[in-house]
Amino acid sequence: MWGMIATWRMAVEGVTKGAEMLKENGSAGDAIETAIREVEDFPYYKSVGYGGLPNEEMEVELDAAFMDGDTLDIGAVAAIKDYANPVSIARRLSREKVNSVLVGEGAEKFAHKEGFERKNMLTDRAKAHYRKRVKEMKEEELKPYSGHDTVGMVCLDSHGKVTAATSTSGLFMKKKGRVGDSPIAGSGFYADSKWGGASATGLGEDLMKGCISYEIVRLMSEGMHPQEACETAVNKLDKELTERRGKAGDLSLIAMNNKGEWGVATNIEGFSFAVVTENQEPTVYLVTRGEDGRCTFEVASQEWMENYMKTRMAPIEE
Ligand code: GLY
Repeated sequence: MWGMIATWRMAVEGVTKGAEMLKENGSAGDAIETAIREVEDFPYYKSVGYGGLPNEEMEVELDAAFMDGDTLDIGAVAAIKDYANPVSIARRLSREKVNSVLVGEGAEKFAHKEGFERKNMLTDRAKAHYRKRVKEMKEEELKPYSGHDTVGMVCLDSHGKVTAATSTSGLFMKKKGRVGDSPIAGSGFYADSKWGGASATGLGEDLMKGCISYEIVRLMSEGMHPQEACETAVNKLDKELTERRGKAGDLSLIAMNNKGEWGVATNIEGFSFAVVTENQEPTVYLVTRGEDGRCTFEVASQEWMENYMKTRMAPIEE
């Protein structure tokens, strides 16, 4: 069995490419890197890679991670600027025994020495979003840019290897140097080929409070189906945060076990995800959360898919 699951509709083109590799017995490392690079390269996704939204100083600082569930190797970069594909740098770092998580200038130096592609990741469109937001900031609370953020994926290959990876520009208008959950092992992602993997999107500051990706993998190791593991972990963290702090930020998680079974949970409206397995074509689902915290899914309609792209590519009214 092989498969991939990823946060948000924006991942489906990448997941489709990754699936082509998995079909030919490709590795979960190569497939997930290829899939995430596809999202990083698409300029209209404003929360990942090229075209990602900048911090409050109008700089695009990116976070990304990669984990190999066979060896438990982890590599991550945080607040890296001017490199085209942070996920590839993270994967390269995962092969280092020490110094495998690098931030800012250190990450950039490593990427330069290793010959990774330099690129100005700040697009004119992202600048327009920035200017618009500066105007709005006076009235609004800082929050992840509405609609979608991190791309997080889990991949299983036909050899039984599980990988997880993430890539994000993080919170729009974040402070320079702010790091979210995405490059933090156990919070933004976790993979163990003995059980499966999980990855997160939402408000990093709150996702980190539950080490939630690790928690989902741990629940799967106790025999839970990925769906039950995701709902259990998300509902528990949502409840704890609400009780102790008055509210919980956005928490959305995807998971796949090493049998190719998958699960999803969220505490928000409007979460979507993409999934493919040996038995299922690449599919985008929309998630509805019931009053009881259970999540149900429906396949996104053609109309929804077209509308999504139109909205992403619409001119920005400043
Ligand atoms: N989940 C992405 C972030 O908070 O940076």
